[in-house]
Amino acid sequence: MERVTDDPRVAEAAAREGIKSFVSAPLISEGGVNGVLVVANRTERRFSRADAEFLRAMGGQLGMAIQNAILFERAERKNRELAALVTAGKAVTSSLNLDDVLSKSLDAVIEIAHVDATEVWLLEGQELALKCQRGVCREAFAERVRFPIGEGFPGIVAQTQTPMLVHNLASDPRLVRKRLVQVGFQTFCALPLRYQDRLVGVMAVAAFSPDALDRPGDVRLLEAIGERISVAIVNAELHGQVQDAATLHERERIAREMHDGMAQLLGYINTQSMAVKRLLANEQMADAHAELTKMEEITRDLYADVREGILGLRTAARANEGLLPALREYVQHYTDMSHVAVALRVSPDAEGMRPAPSVEIQLMRIIQEALTNVRKHARATSADVQFERLGSRMRVTIADNGQGFDTARSTALGWPRFGIQTMRERAESVGGTLSIETEHGRGTRVVVDLPVLQQEAIGQTS
Ligand SMILES: Nc1ncnc2c1ncn2[C@@H]1O[C@H](COP(=O)(O)OP(=O)(O)OP(=O)(O)O)[C@@H](O)[C@H]1O
Ligand SMILES: [Mg+2]
Repeated sequence: MERVTDDPRVAEAAAREGIKSFVSAPLISEGGVNGVLVVANRTERRFSRADAEFLRAMGGQLGMAIQNAILFERAERKNRELAALVTAGKAVTSSLNLDDVLSKSLDAVIEIAHVDATEVWLLEGQELALKCQRGVCREAFAERVRFPIGEGFPGIVAQTQTPMLVHNLASDPRLVRKRLVQVGFQTFCALPLRYQDRLVGVMAVAAFSPDALDRPGDVRLLEAIGERISVAIVNAELHGQVQDAATLHERERIAREMHDGMAQLLGYINTQSMAVKRLLANEQMADAHAELTKMEEITRDLYADVREGILGLRTAARANEGLLPALREYVQHYTDMSHVAVALRVSPDAEGMRPAPSVEIQLMRIIQEALTNVRKHARATSADVQFERLGSRMRVTIADNGQGFDTARSTALGWPRFGIQTMRERAESVGGTLSIETEHGRGTRVVVDLPVLQQEAIGQTS
């Protein structure tokens, strides 16, 4: 346009800027227009066809560049979202302990979503219970720790099972926890946590800025993280159930073992008493004396077994506090009772290994049986319990400096022997192996190899 005053559509604006002439070209890419290039002059000027062609070509180039930038920006956002999901995914699979998983995941959410605080509510019957809160202003969130379905933002989301996002928290009549506004939160977003079709809880995030979470895809990203958190919640639930089942199973087994062992011994004492009575009636004093001495030994052994059994049960009950602390205490009591000095050694590379709880239970019982054998049969003065790392497995060796034995003959006459066989079965039941190295006069080594699940410290309590 050589004289802008000729065109009423632009004349006024051009006059304000002092523009006399201009040429414009669309910015085109892939057939779409994503802008306009304008070249304006404060003098009157004739634009040639070549000028127009040049600008059209420029417009094409710029259009492409803009399109690329938009695509790049989109790809970048996708990358950020993927990275966020990976971070959240890592947090979610880092452990089977729910508190652990939730705090790590919620910390990741704060970082990823640029919010200031976040919380997770779990569904308990017809109510939501606050399970985990991370970020700032804890006390404001804890103003309420339970919501019936339908009340407050978490309760409403649990009812509608759809996300909600508000940027003007202060003026929202549905807000129950007024402290959130008092401490300055303006944006609040809550979304349902679902596993398959089941509601498991609600995740919420809050931010001081009224502009938080207003980019496209922000809420969708939170939902994607929420899906992973839901899986973690369900996993932790299942894991808890499995552990409960393992504990019950173990209790039943102990009860059966005790019953069988006791029943055998009491039966033995009963028949022996009758035999002794008969000997006394026949005035076979020396034989009666010999039988009574045998009984005395056996009852003394039984007494030691029962004490050790009770100690073992107490230790098993404490095993969820961590294998090593429980084992240390066991070894201490065992040394007091048996007068065999036991040293517990953990090699540095084994420090970071943590077997699954089911493996820990079996390992604990294997160590106990091996040490019981040391007390009963080895005539040892000392023993070692050693933890080592063997690639991705853990090796535990229980070694004594006693008399050793002939493994081929250990199943010889007398009482039925269950100890070694049960130890082996225990190891195999959790994917491990057990072997015994022994020689007369050279002590005994019970070697257990076990799989390890998590790379955490065996000594740590979770
Ligand atoms: N550390 C050890 N030192 C010397 N002998 C051992 C040792 N461990 C086991 N034995 C021998 O192996 C045998 C079998 O052990 P096992 O634990 O299977 O049975 P038990 O201890 O005799 O009976 P149970 O464990 O059923 O009460 C023992 O009777 C003993 O002779
Ligand atoms: Mg035994």
